[in-house]
Amino acid sequence: MNKTIKVQLNHKSIRAFKDKKVDKDTLNTLFEVANRTSSSVAMQSYSIIRITDKEKRKKLSEICNQPYVETAPELLLFIVDGFRNAKISQAMGEGINNGNDMDKFFQGFTDGAIACQNMVVAIESLGMGAVYLGSMLNDSQAVIDLLELPELTFPIVGLGFGYPDQAPQLKPRMDLSLKVFENTYKIQDDYLESIREYDKEMKTYYDLRDTSKPLDEFSKQVVSRLKGENKKRSGILNVIGDQGFNFKLKD
Ligand SMILES: Cc1cc2nc3c(=O)[nH]c(=O)nc-3n(C[C@H](O)[C@H](O)[C@H](O)COP(=O)(O)O)c2cc1C
Repeated sequence: MNKTIKVQLNHKSIRAFKDKKVDKDTLNTLFEVANRTSSSVAMQSYSIIRITDKEKRKKLSEICNQPYVETAPELLLFIVDGFRNAKISQAMGEGINNGNDMDKFFQGFTDGAIACQNMVVAIESLGMGAVYLGSMLNDSQAVIDLLELPELTFPIVGLGFGYPDQAPQLKPRMDLSLKVFENTYKIQDDYLESIREYDKEMKTYYDLRDTSKPLDEFSKQVVSRLKGENKKRSGILNVIGDQGFNFKLKD
């Protein structure tokens, strides 16, 4: 155990923040941490957009349907960025379409996601809190239009952060035996039996977004999450294609 691991094992999403700014030096340090993160073939195919404009914040919170998108002291959007390297390549006399395949897309997606998580560890180590905002993909086209994202870019995830004004419980996690395997994938004999304790534990967790009752059992949450479909989210490939990425599917 060390300080870093203690911070990581104490991770909780924070959705309510004190009215206290994150100072410029701290912010710069956090961006340096993101910049120092490993990057697939060192292409750094992601960018970060800091959203400070009040109107844009408001519109994003409507897209995300989450008020803290507007109120979090800092709001970042991590994006896949194939545009920058395509421009560099073009300036070197190559065609603009180099690098528009899905392998490059996923390199950028992974790069952006791990840079974001690296930043989250740093944020939490400084006594601040953060919340990921996958809700930015509720309407990825609207986010692209609002932030004027060029071709070969695509939103990955948003991040709201600042000084916590709430103290949530640690949210229960599934037992590691269900997630960590050796040499091959382990199919469980009875999935409901294997999560029985976890189902019970989840019923002891109160989400601060609705403190009137504990969360449902995990199995029930899975059913409602898998059943529910948001057409704009499930149709995400249409927007990725419109951004200029080429799926190169088999004929
Ligand atoms: C990719 C990703 C997207 C997420 N999107 C949202 C979101 O849009 N809004 C939100 O309030 N929390 C979001 N979260 C936070 C999760 O709800 C949270 O991590 C999960 O419930 C576990 O809780 P904990 O982080 O407090 O342990 C997201 C987390 C991840 C990793």
